Amino acid sequence: MNHIKKIVLLFFSYLSLGMNSSFAAKVTIIPEPVKMEIYDGTFTIGANTRIYFDSKNPLLARHARYFTNVVASVSDVTLKTSKNRAQSQVRLLIAADKLIGDEGYHLDIDEKGITISASTDKGVFYGLQSLLQLLPVYRTNAELQLPLLKITDYPRFKWRGMMLDVSRHFFSTEAVKSYIDLMAMYKMNVFHWHLTDSEGWRLEIKKYPKLTSVGAWRKEIPGSVFYKKNQVLPIDTFSYGGFYTQEQAKDIVKYAGERNIMVVPEIEMPGHSDAAITAYPELSCTGMPQQVRSSFGGDPNALANYCAGKEDSFVFLENVLKEVMTIFPGDYIHIGGDEVNKASWKKCASCQRRMVKEGLKDEHELQSYFIKRMANFLHDKDKKLIGWDEILEGGLAAEATVMSWRGEQGGIQAAKMHHPVVMTPVNPLYFNRYQADTLSIQQPLAARYSINTLEKVYDYEPIPGALNAVEASFVLGAQGCIWTEFINSVPHLEQMALPRMLALSEVLWSPKTSKDWSRFNEKLYFHSRRLGSVGRNVFTSVPFLYHNTEVK
Ligand code: ACM
Ligand code: ZN
Repeated sequence: MNHIKKIVLLFFSYLSLGMNSSFAAKVTIIPEPVKMEIYDGTFTIGANTRIYFDSKNPLLARHARYFTNVVASVSDVTLKTSKNRAQSQVRLLIAADKLIGDEGYHLDIDEKGITISASTDKGVFYGLQSLLQLLPVYRTNAELQLPLLKITDYPRFKWRGMMLDVSRHFFSTEAVKSYIDLMAMYKMNVFHWHLTDSEGWRLEIKKYPKLTSVGAWRKEIPGSVFYKKNQVLPIDTFSYGGFYTQEQAKDIVKYAGERNIMVVPEIEMPGHSDAAITAYPELSCTGMPQQVRSSFGGDPNALANYCAGKEDSFVFLENVLKEVMTIFPGDYIHIGGDEVNKASWKKCASCQRRMVKEGLKDEHELQSYFIKRMANFLHDKDKKLIGWDEILEGGLAAEATVMSWRGEQGGIQAAKMHHPVVMTPVNPLYFNRYQADTLSIQQPLAARYSINTLEKVYDYEPIPGALNAVEASFVLGAQGCIWTEFINSVPHLEQMALPRMLALSEVLWSPKTSKDWSRFNEKLYFHSRRLGSVGRNVFTSVPFLYHNTEVK
């Protein structure tokens, strides 16, 4: 958009704000609802407002409590609960409706009050999220005036994901919950938790205590800078790491579930496994001692894989997954599968014997054998295997779900084979990458390769043109990924997620036909203020139409 157009747009939006006859906040819901009509007038939430829900439904009671707490935190109002529907002004109702499905909702605000009705408690939760976005942008002790409106809303995709890597840098349970809170505000529903990698194993496994007593800790240097291999180490190294106990992980699962978010744990195999192999060196091809990988690269023995020849590797991983399944009740287990350096397998007598015995013609087929064994194990336990798109190489396991990251080709190939797919192409859905030109806007050190701007994320279409309608139906949705090689604080994490996650939420929830970049920018201005007012760190990039405008 050129400059003149921007100014004209700004001017008209300014006028429309000024002409708004009521004092209710402008309606700026993200993701954009499927259908919305706004009327003149307001409804006021105040000291006497009562909230009704079926008290026999504990899920609704919890959602009502959640809503009441958020309202109390941004205002002077403490909603009263009531058992009398007719005498209440906020009503949470369950009524089956095929049109809106499991996650959709109706939100009606008229002069008499607010009604949210949905087929399930999930829909009620999302109706409440939309309602919360109608509250004033800043904390106020005044009564809360809401616009009169009628919304019918439901999602376009069923997998609306965000990934967080806690291996490269460890994040506390509080930080993880706060990330989950952000996801819930924008109706994202899958938290992909990257729990193990070469730089640290982060989940307690009772049968293998060294995974966390050894594998969760590495030698680190101040700052997150990648040193060249074999460079002399600075002398001021320190021990760095951390892990989640099973109780803490279960608590995260519960917390996420209360916000309609499924947690998908990732246990990396057969590569990205230096931390596990440092703890149990006998699992690698060479059995050599090694170090947990650190940001200065570390040890030349690193980048080892689990040995695919030894039965013990499979026994170990199955035992690990048995415990993982007791913590994560969701349908999916992510087994990684990406970037396997097959050099160690090529040199290993045991791996080579396995290939001969199983009739595998190369190491790609050996990787495929590895993943298929794990897939069979998981299917026997009624779990679904999901892996990065390398699991296509050498033959895809039956029923496996593919997460397409090296572009869209893996996703297209899998969908054509009628396998479920989650799209997360590095460009633009890796949110650890820069989000603006580094010459014009300063940003903390990030992964290079591409600049994944807000606009690129907003323009992303999860269904590739190469798929026909049946194939397209295998695309479950998409996901933003945050790898944390360079990210070691919550404010930094937030500025990578915000505002790009908001753009992705609109891509994944709203109808394709309602996409509108300039309206999204207008709404984003208010969301940046709302999020900023509760201490969230939102990156401000260009173009950002309302960048310097004060709202009257
Ligand atoms: C990946 O980024 N290696 C999945
Ligand atoms: Zn081997």
